[in-house]
Amino acid sequence: MKIDEMAASLDSYFNVNDWKETVWNIIGDSAGNGFPADVDVSFRDGNVGRFLVNGTYADEILIAAFLTEEVIDAAAVHKDALLVCKHPMDWDEFDSGFKHLSEKGYQLLKERNISVYIAHKCMDNHPMHSPSRHYAKALGETSLVPLYHLGHNFGFGIDSDIEHANFDSLAGHVASSLGLNDVQRMKMKESTGRLVVVTGGGDHPEWLHESMRVMGEDITYSTGIARYRSTEYSKVHNAAFVALARELNINLIGAGHYPTEIGGVSSLAPSLSSMFNMPVTVIYEKNKLGNMIKNWGGEFYD
Ligand SMILES: [Fe+2]
Repeated sequence: MKIDEMAASLDSYFNVNDWKETVWNIIGDSAGNGFPADVDVSFRDGNVGRFLVNGTYADEILIAAFLTEEVIDAAAVHKDALLVCKHPMDWDEFDSGFKHLSEKGYQLLKERNISVYIAHKCMDNHPMHSPSRHYAKALGETSLVPLYHLGHNFGFGIDSDIEHANFDSLAGHVASSLGLNDVQRMKMKESTGRLVVVTGGGDHPEWLHESMRVMGEDITYSTGIARYRSTEYSKVHNAAFVALARELNINLIGAGHYPTEIGGVSSLAPSLSSMFNMPVTVIYEKNKLGNMIKNWGGEFYD
């Protein structure tokens, strides 16, 4: 099938015109190097949709959360494929955060005729594939209250009577539900209150305020990145987020960017398989998850 036709179908499936953003141009600049020169011009305009077009046709679909070397190496086993990816770059929790596609990875995608389509905010807001929805489901929760900021469905409050005995048992439940040994934990109080789930980078002060406004004052806010300080930006912004959570007496759980988002991303597989009637492969980042199982988590208080 022609890449152009596949991209047009995905544009309509994800309602991309409703979810244009500028975040990747901004992060792209701050992460250095910039995007490859031949990144599709439409992507630069809306930060969504066709990112790299290599070849004219694809006869299989690959799905991944991040455009990492690990993903590209696994993708390169295939050829003439369309890689549908949530982020146009890597995220390294333990190092420099967002990292650009390497020259080696870029060349490999070209050699193998693998085009890349990016669906970020449009996936967060998709009724079936929202990672936050799937994160809640992984925790066994289905009664969800959508939370919005500026029209963006950033996460869900859990509208459930089932309460975890205390914060530590909830944190343990989150870790084991995602296959981790531990999560980042800021325990302000023993009680969990009502749980809020926000995948990926949920460390936004306004989202804390909105969560409390909707779910009440007694909440535990669980996101991907609760504490992260390795960039100049995060030294200011993440510190402000954590300080606000302390001030508001909110427990924080950080369950990692990749672990919280891969469930929503992989949920695309059956939908894209029936939409395009071609083989679909989800590429899991086993090395990244393995490293997180070993090294992620721990208590923090500032
Ligand atoms: Fe993300």
